[in-house]
Amino acid sequence: MKHDIVEKNIGLMAILIIVVISLGGLAEIIPLMLSRTASDPVEGMRPYTALELEGRDIYIREGCYNCHSQMVRPFRAETERYGPYSEAGETVWDHPFQFGSKRTGPDLARVGGRYSDEWHRVHLMNPRDVVPESNMPSYPWLAEAEIDASRTPIKMAGMKTLGVPYTDDDVAGATAAVDGKTELQALIAYLQNLGMAIKTRGQ
Ligand code: HEC
Repeated sequence: MKHDIVEKNIGLMAILIIVVISLGGLAEIIPLMLSRTASDPVEGMRPYTALELEGRDIYIREGCYNCHSQMVRPFRAETERYGPYSEAGETVWDHPFQFGSKRTGPDLARVGGRYSDEWHRVHLMNPRDVVPESNMPSYPWLAEAEIDASRTPIKMAGMKTLGVPYTDDDVAGATAAVDGKTELQALIAYLQNLGMAIKTRGQ
């Protein structure tokens, strides 16, 4: 039998495995390179406001991604729980994106609008005040620390270089937009915008 030849020759088998995996990989990668769904923003999406952008930096600094993913997979169990599955075009302006895969806590890709700002405030100060069984850490210092507004325009200009369509006015107004805001306010603004481009589609 011809199959014996492959099974008894490890070198040949390795080569054939590489060929099969490469074909499978290319079948997934090439269509994405040709289609614009991976590089164009989804309809109705806007770049983060200055405050949301600062909030995203807090999200990264505090390591929220160690417990939370931001990618709803296209399976029924996920879409029923979290909402529409994630699309590549939702993250074209995220540098870096926050997909993640660790889910000690729920996925946050569609958390925007699910709770009130006040719920988030209480939850971030001490999660057990709203979810008694929660093992999420408390982040009380966020309420006291103010955003360093002098750095916001630099961050926005950096994002602009990476292709985020901020206008010169956005950059110029960035300091005023976040001045006096706390890190907690910024983080909540960021969370409230997560997934909104698709969530509000067609409504
Ligand atoms: C040690 C793991 C862990 C870390 C780190 C963590 N969380 Fe959580 N998070 C959880 C768990 C578990 C839950 C579910 C229980 C609850 O609601 O508190 C949760 C719930 C949430 C929810 C509610 C989601 C929903 O759909 O009900 C939000 C919003 C949230 N976390 C935001 C954050 C943010 C922002 C950070 C970073 C500042 C963070 N989490 C850090 C574990 C974590």
